[in-house]
Amino acid sequence: MTEIAAVVLAAGQGTRMRSALPKVLHPLAGRPLIGHVLAALAPLAPARTVVVVGPEGAAVEQAVAPLPTATQAERLGTAHAVLQAREVLAGFTGTVLVLYGDTPLVPTETLARLVAAREASTNPAAVVLGFRPRNPTGYGRLVTGPDGLDAIVEEKDASPEQKALTLCNSGVMALDGAILFSLLDQVGNANAKGEYYLTDVVALARARGRRVDVIESCPEDLLGVNDRADLAAAEAVVQTRLRRAAMAAGVTLTAPETVFLSWDTQLGPDVSIGPFVTFGPGVTLEAGVTVKGFCHFENCTVATGAIVGPYARLRPGARVAENAHIGNFVEIKNATVEAGAKVNHLTYIGDARVGAKANVGAGTITCNYDGFSKYHTDIGAGAFIGSNTALVAPVRIGDGAMIGAGSTITADVPDGALALTRAPQDTRPGWVAKFVARLRPARKS
Ligand code: UD1
Ligand code: MG
Repeated sequence: MTEIAAVVLAAGQGTRMRSALPKVLHPLAGRPLIGHVLAALAPLAPARTVVVVGPEGAAVEQAVAPLPTATQAERLGTAHAVLQAREVLAGFTGTVLVLYGDTPLVPTETLARLVAAREASTNPAAVVLGFRPRNPTGYGRLVTGPDGLDAIVEEKDASPEQKALTLCNSGVMALDGAILFSLLDQVGNANAKGEYYLTDVVALARARGRRVDVIESCPEDLLGVNDRADLAAAEAVVQTRLRRAAMAAGVTLTAPETVFLSWDTQLGPDVSIGPFVTFGPGVTLEAGVTVKGFCHFENCTVATGAIVGPYARLRPGARVAENAHIGNFVEIKNATVEAGAKVNHLTYIGDARVGAKANVGAGTITCNYDGFSKYHTDIGAGAFIGSNTALVAPVRIGDGAMIGAGSTITADVPDGALALTRAPQDTRPGWVAKFVARLRPARKS
């Protein structure tokens, strides 16, 4: 295999997204559209990759750094966009892949097929990735002949016969870097849109006696995102793929269509996930973790044998150790729950450590924030926190200490001590009857 280079086109404004965020930065399974494109490309180890951005491309530049970008000052067409890569690709004579930043679902394996076809012994000047969409309207049509692909005709320039062709241009191509820029220099803009079409390089290469080929791919892989409905459709495809991969790796999903994964979710074998669970980025669940329904995870880890949920929320920095139990309506943020600890009901644990085998009662709150700063709560191993306790941080509860229910703890509690803050109970026998007698209006005789 010769070296490959990649040009990712991302200069489009994405007007139809109606968004302040550039289109290619909209997330799909927690990662920007263009991140999916670059990830599909990565295993091919391109020697050079350049992202073509528009004049307001600063955010895209940041997102793809350290990859170089080239700015297309005016949006004059796809050929003009690829021309902006000339400097970065100077002297490159291998295969150049052209991809769109808003077409995020093309698998690596398809790109590899395209490169292999471009490097066939017939040495085609280009190989175009074709597909047969349910509705071809709007796509460039592939005009094939006995020697492969003869031309690509854009919808607006197509004759009725050409419009009847069902094989369309996906936009993804592999081109011979040795002649790419000389072909692009020949592309004019005398067409219906007045644009410089990349697709014109096909007929130009044929005129030079070079071969051009097509390989086909399925429409699902070539879904392009133009508006929010397309974004949702792409999300559905990615989620289906992620769920299938998880199940193939030994994860049980009781209701897969209700579980939303992130591109980087790590699920060990025999993880079991109930319905309606959402994963943000950066989550690892080790082997054998059980997640009951309606949980939400983001940037957190859960170790082997732990049980989480239903209705638990693990926020960034939550680390749940082996065999710990996190129950219903529990929120954990930037905190470690050590092995075998139980935090089972209605609790907030933030900026804290819950020691091994500690038991945190229902309604416990770590009061970690005073409106200005965050403070740490340390709960020792084997401690018992009675229900409805407020732990006002910074505070330390010793190993094996007990906190009486309903306490507000503001000072450290030594190992093995009992601490409680509780107003004495006042019990008045027979009081209710006297109270009622006093208030009941006198009966009329
Ligand atoms: C293009 C193809 C068409 C193909 C279709 C597939 C051309 C001339 N036509 O048409 O054959 O069927 O894609 O979706 O290539 N872009 C730039 N700078 C520009 C113009 C476009 O960066 O000046 C980028 C866009 O951001 C987008 C991609 O190139 O990612 C395609 O541009 P778009 O305007 O959508 O091309 P189509 O008219 O859809
Ligand atoms: Mg388009």
